[in-house]
Amino acid sequence: MRSEDKALFRAIRGKSVERPPFWLMRQAGRYLPEYREIRGKVAHFLELCFTPELAMEVTLQPIRRFGMDAAILFSDILVVPWGLTQNVAFKEGEGPVLDPIRDVAGLASLTLDGFLERLQPVYTATKMIKEELPLQTSFIGFAGAPWTVATYMVEGGSSRGFENTQRWANTDPAGFQKLMDILVEATVLHLDAQIRSGVEIVQIFDSWAGVLKDRDFAQWIIAPTVRIVKALRAKHPTVPIIGFPRGAGAQYLGYAQETGVDVLSLDQDLPLSFARDVLQPVAAVQGNLDPVILAAGGSALKTRTEEIITAFRGGRFIFNLGHGILPHTPPENVALLGQLLERAGRG
Ligand code: CP3
Repeated sequence: MRSEDKALFRAIRGKSVERPPFWLMRQAGRYLPEYREIRGKVAHFLELCFTPELAMEVTLQPIRRFGMDAAILFSDILVVPWGLTQNVAFKEGEGPVLDPIRDVAGLASLTLDGFLERLQPVYTATKMIKEELPLQTSFIGFAGAPWTVATYMVEGGSSRGFENTQRWANTDPAGFQKLMDILVEATVLHLDAQIRSGVEIVQIFDSWAGVLKDRDFAQWIIAPTVRIVKALRAKHPTVPIIGFPRGAGAQYLGYAQETGVDVLSLDQDLPLSFARDVLQPVAAVQGNLDPVILAAGGSALKTRTEEIITAFRGGRFIFNLGHGILPHTPPENVALLGQLLERAGRG
C-alpha cells in the first residue's frame, strides 16, 4: 500500500477516515510482558536498541497485540549523544546516566565523524521492520529535539530543575549554541538515515520544551526545530513531520506557525477547546489522552476518549496519549482503547 493511502497519512492530509487512526507513545515497553521477556535477555537497554533482531521484535509486539495504525521504531533519543561518542548507560531504576558536558571545552569530546556508522544497527533494524510490517501500518521514526537531548547531555541524566543546562545557556549562549549546532546536524543525519531506511513519518520529541518561555523558547526550541524541518523537507518533501513541544502551553501556536510541522503532538495539559479552535486549524493534531487515565481504564477511559474524539473528529486528527504509556498500565486497557476507537468509527 502507498504511504499516502494509509489511515495515518489520510488523517494528516485531512482526507476521510473510517475512525480516528491511533498509535501510542512508548507503545513498546515495560507494560507488555512480552517486552519484559526480551528485555530480560540483554544486560543493557542499549543492547536492545543496537541488536536489529531484538529492536524489530519489540517494535512489532504492540502491533501484533493491538493493531495500531502506526509502528514507532524501537530506539531511544539518547542514541544520538551515544553516536557522538558521549558515554551513555541506562542504570536499573535510575534511568540514563551520561558523562556530563557542561561547557564549550567539553564539546571537544564529541565528534560527528563516524556518527552514521556507529548508528548503523538502528538503520539495519529500520530496514528489517519495514519488510515485516503489515501493509496498512505506517512506520514512524524519531529523534529528540536538540534542547531536550542537550538537557540529558549537560545534566548527565534526567533532571528536574535543569540547572546546569540553564546556567550554560544563559551565561554562555554562544557556547551553548555550538552544542545545539552539533545536535541539529546530528538529528538531521539521523532522521534522514531513518527515512532512507524505510520510515514514512518522523516525530521530534521535545519533552522538556515547557521549561522555556518567550525569547528562550524562540532560541532553543523553535529555531533549531526550524533548521531540522527545513533540512528534512529539502531532502524528503512529502515525509510528514510531527512536532512534540511538550508542556509548551500557549506557545504551541507559535511553534506550529514558525516550524511548519505537519502534525502537533499535544500533551494532556492542553485544554481541548484551545487545541481544537486555535491549533487544529494550523496543523493536524495528535493526542492527548492523559496516560494516567489509560492506566486507570474503565469508565474514566471511555468518557475521556469520547470527549477527545468529539472535540477533534471534525478536523485532521490522530488519536494518541499526551505522553508515553506508564509502565504499570494494564495491557487490557490498551485493548479497550482500541475497541472504543473501532466503535467510534461505526457511529
Ligand atoms: O515505543 C516507543 O515509543 C519507541 C521507543 C522509545 C523509547 N524511548 C524506548 C525506551 C521512544 C520514542 C523513547 C523516547 C524517549 N527516550 C524520550 C522522549 C519521550 C518522553 O518520554 O518524553 C526521552 C526523554 C527518552 C530518554 C529516556 N529513555 C529515559 C529518561 C529513560 C528512562 C526512564 C524510563 O522510562 O525507563 C529511557 C529508557 C527507555 N526508553 C525505556 C524504553 C522502553 C525503558 C528502559 C527499559 O526497558 O529498561
